[in-house]
Amino acid sequence: MLSFRKRSHTCGELRIQDIGKKVTLNGWVDIRRDLGGVIFIDLRDRYGKIQVVFNPKHKSEAHNKAKEIRNEFVISVTGLVEHRPKGTENPETATGNIDVLAEELTILNKADTPPFPIEDELETGEDLRLKYRYLDLRRRPLQENLLTRSRMYQVTHRYFDEQDFVEIETPVLMKSTPEGARDYLVPSRVHRGKFFALPQSPQTYKQILMVSGFDRYVQIVKCFRDEDLRADRQPEFTQIDVEMSFVDEEDVYTLAEGLMVRFFKEIHGMDIPLPLPRLTYKAAMEKYGSDKPDTRFGLEFITINDLVEKSGFKVFADVVAKGGVVAGFVVPGAATMTRNQMDILVDFTKNLGTGGLVYFKWTENGLETAVEKFLGKETVQNIATAMGAREGDLVLLVSDQWAKAYTILGTLRLEMARRLNLIDAAKQSMLWVTEFPLFEFSEEEKRYVAVHHPFTSPHSDDIPLLETDPGKMRARAYDLVLNGNEIAGGSIRIHDSLLQQKVFTSLGIEKEEAYRKFGFLLNAFKYGAPPHGGIAFGFDRIVMLLTGMKSIRDVIAFPKTASAVSLMDEAPSEVDDRQLKELHIRVV
Ligand code: AMO
Repeated sequence: MLSFRKRSHTCGELRIQDIGKKVTLNGWVDIRRDLGGVIFIDLRDRYGKIQVVFNPKHKSEAHNKAKEIRNEFVISVTGLVEHRPKGTENPETATGNIDVLAEELTILNKADTPPFPIEDELETGEDLRLKYRYLDLRRRPLQENLLTRSRMYQVTHRYFDEQDFVEIETPVLMKSTPEGARDYLVPSRVHRGKFFALPQSPQTYKQILMVSGFDRYVQIVKCFRDEDLRADRQPEFTQIDVEMSFVDEEDVYTLAEGLMVRFFKEIHGMDIPLPLPRLTYKAAMEKYGSDKPDTRFGLEFITINDLVEKSGFKVFADVVAKGGVVAGFVVPGAATMTRNQMDILVDFTKNLGTGGLVYFKWTENGLETAVEKFLGKETVQNIATAMGAREGDLVLLVSDQWAKAYTILGTLRLEMARRLNLIDAAKQSMLWVTEFPLFEFSEEEKRYVAVHHPFTSPHSDDIPLLETDPGKMRARAYDLVLNGNEIAGGSIRIHDSLLQQKVFTSLGIEKEEAYRKFGFLLNAFKYGAPPHGGIAFGFDRIVMLLTGMKSIRDVIAFPKTASAVSLMDEAPSEVDDRQLKELHIRVV
C-alpha cells in the first residue's frame, strides 16, 4: 500500500514492535478523557482506534491545545509509541498494549456535537441515522459491512476475469419495456413527450451482446424498480449480471456455484459442499410452501388428500373433490401449546386468507382434536401416523386450492420456526429451485403474464402445451436460494424468433405490439442469435446474508427508506418550474 505523506501510520496498525517509533496519525476523536491534568483520547479511523496521551510534563503546548478537543474533531498528532503503564493495558483491542505520547497536535477541523454517539451498539432510530448517514457510516459495524462489500466486488471481478468473462457497461437511459415491475421514467428534454426508462435490469442488452458474439458477459450493475419496498428490496439495487452463449442450465449452475463457494471461502473461510441441492418449484411448494424455501429446519409438509377424500369431514372432502389439497406438518413437542396460543394461531392462519386451521394435539391422553367427530378416531390416528407424529407433537392442517394451501402453510411454517426458535443462524442452506412455471394468470390483467420474463425458454417437453394449456408449462428458469432468500435468478432464453412470437401471443402481446416494445431485440435475433442463458445475483442480498444483517439497507452506503425516499439529501424533491417547462411537463 502506498503511504501518503500526511500520516505515517493508520490508527489500527501500531503494535508492541513499534514501540519507540515517532509516528504521525490522522483521524477523528472517538472519546476524550481529562484525568487530572493528563488528557487521553481515542483516535479513530477506518482501520481502528488507538489511545493518544497528552501529558503536560512532556509537551505542555500540545497538552494545552488538547483541552480544546471534543468528540469527532479531526486532528493530526505526532508522538512516540510507548508501552502503556502496567495495569492499564487492554489486551482485548488490537492496539491495547500501547499508546502514543503526543508531541505535536494540529486540529484539522472542529465538529458540532453529533445527534447520536458514534458507537457500535446504538438504540437511535433508523430515520435519524439515515438523515445523518455520514455519521452512521463512521460506526464500526457499518464500516465493516461496506468493507466486506468492497472485498466481495473484488472476489467477483477476480472470479469472472479468471473465467474469461468480458465486463461491459450497458445504458442507464433505455427504452421503457414494461412486463415486470414499474419503471422509473426520465423525461426527454429534446424529444417532447418521450421518456427514457431506468433499467429494471440489463436483460435485453445482455441478450443483444450475445448476438454480438461476447459469449461471456458480466457486469456489476445498478437496477431500478418502482415497486413496494421491504427489508430485502430497494428501488435501486445492485446485480452481478451474467449472460453466456452456447450453454445449458448445468453450465450456469456450475458457474454460479463457483462464485458462491468463493464468497463463503473468502469472507467466512467456510467450505460449501457442491453440487448444491435442487428442488423443482412444485416440490418446493409442496414440501415448504415457498419458491424460496428456508431448509435450515424441518417442518416439511405431507399431503393427505388420499386419507381424507372419502372421510365424513365435508370441509376436507369438498376441497379434494374440487381439485384442492389437504396438507400440513408436524410441530415436534408443541402439543403443550395452550388453548389461547392455539386460538391466536388459528386467527393468524385465517388472516392469511383461508377458511381455518385444523389441529391435533397428541398428549398423554392420546390424540385430541375438535374435528374427531367428523373425521372419526381411526382417520385421525391414520393421519397422525402418516405424517410421522408422535406423542407430544402438534399436527397442523390446512385445506384449500393448491397454491393457496401451500403458500399459507409456508407462512405458518416460518412463523412456527420463529416462535419455537428452530432456525440455527450458524447454518447455511443454499439450493436451486428449478422448473418454475412459464406463465401465471393475472386476475388483474385477465391474461397470462411471464413469471420470469417473456424471453425465458419453455421446457422443451412442454412446448406443445403453448396452444392448449399454457398455465401448465414449465420454464427453463432457476433461482438460487440462501437461507430462505432469493439471491439469484435466471433462465435459458428463447433464441428462436418463431417460438418467441408464439410466447408473445400466449401472453396476449400481438406481433405489432411485440415489435413496438421489443422490436430491437426481435430484429437482433434475425441476424444469428446463439443459444444463450444467464443469471443475475442480487448483490445487496448476498452481502446482507454474508454480513449477518437483517436488511439490505445495512449494506448499502446511501439507501432509501421503506417509502422510497432518501432522508439525507431529501430525494425525491420538487423541481423548479423552469426545469419542468424545459421537459414539457406539468404537474397536476
Ligand atoms: P430478477 O428479477 O430475478 O432477475 O433479479 C435478480 C436478483 O436481483 C435481486 N433483486 C433485488 N434486490 C434488491 N432489491 C430489489 N428490488 C430486487 N429485485 C431483485 C434478487 C433477484 O434474485 N434479468 C433477470 C436475470 C436473468 O434472467 O438473467 C433479473 O433481473 O436477489
